Amino acid sequence: MTYHFSANRVRHFGTTIFSEITALAQHHNAINLGQGFPDFSAPAFIKDAAIKAIQDDVNQYAPLPGRPKLRQAIADKVLKHEGRTVDPNTEIAVMVGATEAIFSTILGLVDPGDEVIIFEPYYDSYIPSIEFAGGIPKYYTLQAPDWTIDPDELEALFSDKTKLIMINTPHNPTGKVFSLDEMELIARLCQKYDAIAAVDGAYEHIIYDGAVHHSMANIDGMAERTVQISSLGKTFSVTGWKTGWTVAPPELTTAIMRIYQWATFSGINPLQEAAAEALITAEQTGYYAELGQMYHRKRDILMNGFNEIGLPAIKPYGSFFIMVDISELGLGTDVEFCKYLPEKVGVAAIPPSAFYVNKSAGEKMARFAFCKKDEVLQAAVEKLRVLG
Ligand SMILES: Cc1ncc(COP(=O)(O)O)c(C=O)c1O
Repeated sequence: MTYHFSANRVRHFGTTIFSEITALAQHHNAINLGQGFPDFSAPAFIKDAAIKAIQDDVNQYAPLPGRPKLRQAIADKVLKHEGRTVDPNTEIAVMVGATEAIFSTILGLVDPGDEVIIFEPYYDSYIPSIEFAGGIPKYYTLQAPDWTIDPDELEALFSDKTKLIMINTPHNPTGKVFSLDEMELIARLCQKYDAIAAVDGAYEHIIYDGAVHHSMANIDGMAERTVQISSLGKTFSVTGWKTGWTVAPPELTTAIMRIYQWATFSGINPLQEAAAEALITAEQTGYYAELGQMYHRKRDILMNGFNEIGLPAIKPYGSFFIMVDISELGLGTDVEFCKYLPEKVGVAAIPPSAFYVNKSAGEKMARFAFCKKDEVLQAAVEKLRVLG
């Protein structure tokens, strides 16, 4: 393509391998375990609340920080789940999905030349956000199959230039849930090097096998330097609603708002009303525990299938992805394998090297999403048997 009008900052972005795999999946009518969105219905209570909000004419702009009822529901949730009091007027900002929350956090807090530490494989929006801010990403490569963290290796990435570390827990795509020891290690390093911890908790309620989503802000000295990012999308199976938020101390919250104030100004008012109702209902009905149990069952259907077939799958403890080691299959790199799969096997998966700078670490794996109906997962297992 010859470039004439587009800005330099966007020229190196192309269409992603994910669009290519989606197109292949559609073309071959394959079972799509690539894309990370549920193929089942969202709970009636959240859908009804959105319909009611629109009919009640909650249809004009929400205030910049978000609808007061939602901010109160978020503050109540933080108190209930973390035992922490946050001020709904100064410490909560609601915006268009965790993606906008990540973008606003990075753009609002990172100056050109500042360093940002991220764990790879990483959620793909982190890097463009850091680039737009003029920041410099520093990568810690999580190694399969345990995805553990070596304290010295992590500390070696910190310096007086470190402004922020992004922690995605439960982690996409590995299913790692950061342990309390790991959170404490990161907390100690943030305080030693005067850095901020941004915790992307898009999957905070999709945990099983007794895993715990630990609160970074609850660790001594961290409340003043932690941004918690949450999303309605995965928790309530409404990824298309793009409603997310941050919880952070007032100075950080103001900086975050200063970014999305000039992008979207505010999130989607009727969906914020529905989100408030959903958070209230979830507490009353034990919804979060049920969500964890449902995903535990789905994880087991796919994991047991992989085990029976003899595919070396790495057990996740949170999120809705399973990474499978494909290196012994003789079907090439992750990209080659994931292009082969829809046509020859009838299943689609995602090549995780797209989530790595250190590509060779990702080339041995394929990511399968299990946020799908049980019968779809079972049908996928049947098809995958040819790989055994
Ligand atoms: C780790 C992680 N963070 C953030 C997001 C984006 O969330 P949202 O749809 O609310 O923008 C996703 C979605 O896939 C994700 O996997």
